[in-house]
Amino acid sequence: IQDLLSDPILAGTSVLITAGGTREPLDPVRFLGNRSSGRQGVALAEAARAAGAEVTLIVTHLEVPVPHGVHVVHASSALELREAVFEHAPGKDVLIMNAAVADFRPATIENSKIKKRDEHSAPVIELVRNPDILAEIVQARGGNDELPRFIVGFAAETGDEQGSVLDYGRAKLERKGCEMLVVNEVGATLTFGEETNAIQVLFADGHESVQAAGSKLEVARVVIEQISHATKGHAD
Ligand code: CTP
Ligand code: CA
Repeated sequence: IQDLLSDPILAGTSVLITAGGTREPLDPVRFLGNRSSGRQGVALAEAARAAGAEVTLIVTHLEVPVPHGVHVVHASSALELREAVFEHAPGKDVLIMNAAVADFRPATIENSKIKKRDEHSAPVIELVRNPDILAEIVQARGGNDELPRFIVGFAAETGDEQGSVLDYGRAKLERKGCEMLVVNEVGATLTFGEETNAIQVLFADGHESVQAAGSKLEVARVVIEQISHATKGHAD
């Protein structure tokens, strides 16, 4: 892996990566979160840096240390992440949206700790939709040449009777409007937290999808190679 990563295939390229999982506050001490460890996003940052890119990494909540040699920006909730993405995206060549963004957040954030009021009752938490950061930045690009020309999304999908992982991935790629979608196949044998990931890299320009499997670092290497190929306009 090290050998392949040490080729400066992204020299002169600036890359913005989001990693981890957002936390949506309920009150001063509680939040709704998700299980993303941030390992894949950190591996992407390391692979991009090793490939010679200038890397800015927006971290939400990580279970692993931040890598060396990259600019690190912190955010917590989806709304904060959106702000950070829009602040740091201008001037970057590539955006990789790897963070697990909460689809919903509590409608209100209590100023003080939510208390048990009596013996038996429990609160009902109302949720509202979060903005789709990826779709928004793709849209915003229409009127802003400063925003990244190459935008990559990540999605975990399972196949079912209605469609395959590839079908769902293609539909999501179209919905988001980004250039590339890395689809992680999750299912009975491939689950979160496992060492081996199976991915399919899909492209909006119609060129054939690429399959790969391996550790998060190997996945990162493949993704960085594909970004390098695509942004340099290679035919393969
Ligand atoms: N994403 C985002 N903002 C959101 C939700 C997702 O930017 N509010 C980004 C993620 O960072 C990821 C991509 O969109 O790169 C796909 O995330 P996913 O959760 O698979 O897509 P959703 O549109 O939320 O679809 P689903 O209903 O399947 O969760
Ligand atoms: Ca989602």
